Amino acid sequence: MNERDWDDVAETFEEDIFNVPANDTKGIIESWVERLAGPDRCATDLGCGVGRTLPMLAERYAKVYAVDVSSQCLEVAERSARAYSNIRYVHADLSKDRNGYPAADVVLCINTLLNAAIEVREPLIERTVRSVKRGGHLLLVVPSLNSALLTAFRHLQWNLRNGMDPKEAQREAALNSKGLEHGTVYIDNVPTKHYLKEELEALLDARGSDVLSIEKLEYPWSTEFDSPPRWMKAPYPWDWFVAARRR
Ligand SMILES: C[S@@+](CC[C@H](N)C(=O)[O-])C[C@H]1O[C@@H](n2cnc3c(N)ncnc32)[C@H](O)[C@@H]1O
Repeated sequence: MNERDWDDVAETFEEDIFNVPANDTKGIIESWVERLAGPDRCATDLGCGVGRTLPMLAERYAKVYAVDVSSQCLEVAERSARAYSNIRYVHADLSKDRNGYPAADVVLCINTLLNAAIEVREPLIERTVRSVKRGGHLLLVVPSLNSALLTAFRHLQWNLRNGMDPKEAQREAALNSKGLEHGTVYIDNVPTKHYLKEELEALLDARGSDVLSIEKLEYPWSTEFDSPPRWMKAPYPWDWFVAARRR
């Protein structure tokens, strides 16, 4: 999705875009935000969208930069976080520049590195890492490729339980994705980059960051299927949460 697509979705963001922080039932994101906070620290919300995580940051950090490519999303974010005077809103395309905000002690980046096009995604990742001060921390949430494959398996299992012919069951549950080997999975027809745990470790290490923790943010099956059957329980689908320190 490009700037215009994100602008178009700004007013209906809550209905259209999955709310990661609200579904972080174990409070993994908030506990890392809290652990790294301090009265003289600054934080950046990279790809802040409509600002769901801005209060969490603004209450714990001296200064917060809310950065997004979509000016419409930034407008909604500014409206909803007007109670906080320590937030600066920055309109920037991370794949092109990093103007307008300094490197921060903590960078929170939730489902922003989704672009399936390598020529967009590589600079996006590069600038995300460089938005962290040396010795500072990156808190990253990205879609999991393993989880997408598990979802396809559950879909197949469901088809078989419904008595579908095995070959048809497999065909019907296929991800049907061009570029699956590079982590491209289509979500609502949008090619979306999904990551392996090992890939995250390697790509962060190559950019001078040490991974401190990688955890699953688990969600119910209703996030993947309409009315999932009762037998469909753990293992649940998940996004990866990564905490890394820039060397
Ligand atoms: C899936 S939304 C997540 C928003 C927010 N982090 C949340 O969890 O609600 C992705 C956000 O990343 C922003 N984004 C996508 N590409 C970007 C880029 N190249 N530079 C800056 N922001 C970008 C979009 O405008 C959108 O607001």
